[in-house]
Amino acid sequence: MSKIIVIGSVSMDLVMETDRIALEGETVFGNRFSMFPGGKGANQAVAIGRLSQPEDEIIMLGAVGQDSFGSILLENLRENHIFVDNVGTVPQFSGIAQITLYQDDNRIIYCPGANGEVNPDSWTDEWKAFENADLVVLQNEIPHQANVAIAKFCKEQGIKILYNPAPARSTDMEMLDWVDYFTPNEHECQELFPERELEDLLNDYPEKLIVTLGTRGSIYSDGHQVHHIPALKTQPVDTTGAGDTFNGAFGYALSHGISVFEALRFATLAAHLSVQKFGAQGGMPTMKEMKESSYYEKTWDFE
Ligand code: RIB
Repeated sequence: MSKIIVIGSVSMDLVMETDRIALEGETVFGNRFSMFPGGKGANQAVAIGRLSQPEDEIIMLGAVGQDSFGSILLENLRENHIFVDNVGTVPQFSGIAQITLYQDDNRIIYCPGANGEVNPDSWTDEWKAFENADLVVLQNEIPHQANVAIAKFCKEQGIKILYNPAPARSTDMEMLDWVDYFTPNEHECQELFPERELEDLLNDYPEKLIVTLGTRGSIYSDGHQVHHIPALKTQPVDTTGAGDTFNGAFGYALSHGISVFEALRFATLAAHLSVQKFGAQGGMPTMKEMKESSYYEKTWDFE
C-alpha cells in the first residue's frame, strides 16, 4: 500500500482543434471543441488514482472555484479514486486552460483562478493529511510560496517529494534542495540551467534530476553513468497530459519501492498509453491496462 498526496492545480481544459493558428487580428475556424477536467495537479493525481489499488490512499489538496466547473472537477477526482475533502471551494473562478491542438502538439494558455488561492498558511486539518505519506507530488500551477512551504514541511517530516517544475519559473531553483526528485522537461531544464551541459548537470544531481525529452524519452544519472530511457514509438492522438501521466506513474512506482530506473520505464509505458486517446486524462491507463500491454514487465511487482 502507499499513501500519496498531490498538491496542485485543478482546472477545466477548453480544447480546440485547428488546422491553422490564427495570426494577429485574424479569425480561423476550429474543427472540434471539447471540455475536459485537467490541471497539472489533478492530472498527476488522476494518473496515480487510475493506477492505484484499493489499499492505496491518494489525496488531493488544492482549490476549485465557486462556479459550475468546481463541482464537476471534484466529482471527476472522486471517480478516479482520489480523496478530495481537502480541496477547498473558494470565491473565484476555477482554473482554466485554453488548449489549442495543432499538428500533433498542444499550445496552452493557463489562467489560475482558484488555483492561485492555494495557501498553506491558512491550513489546519490539511497538514494532518500528510501523516505517514510515502510521497508528496508538486508542480507549478499553484503559487511558488505554497510549494516552498509544503516542501519545507515535508523535509522536516522526512516525506519524499516529487517536484515537476512545470511550467518553469525563475524561482524554481529555490526548491531544488528541498525535493527528492526534480523532473523538468528539456525546455524547462534549459530555462532553469541555461549555461549547463545536460550530462554534467545530471551527474551533479544523481537520481534526483530526471529530464523528460518528449518523443525521445527521459534521461537521468545514477551517479556512475547517465541512463537514457527511450520513449515507445507511436502516432499520438493527443499528447496533452503525457508529462503528467509520466510524473504520476513515476511517483506511483517509486512509492511502491521500485528503483528509479524501473520506475522511469514504468512511467514511459504509462505515457505511451496515455497519448493514444483524446484529452489530458482520457488515455491515462489503469493498472489493468498497463498489465495488458505487451511492454509491461512482470518484474514490476505491484501485487
Ligand atoms: O499538462 C497538461 C495540463 O496543463 C492541461 O491539462 C492543462 O490544464 C494545463 O494547465
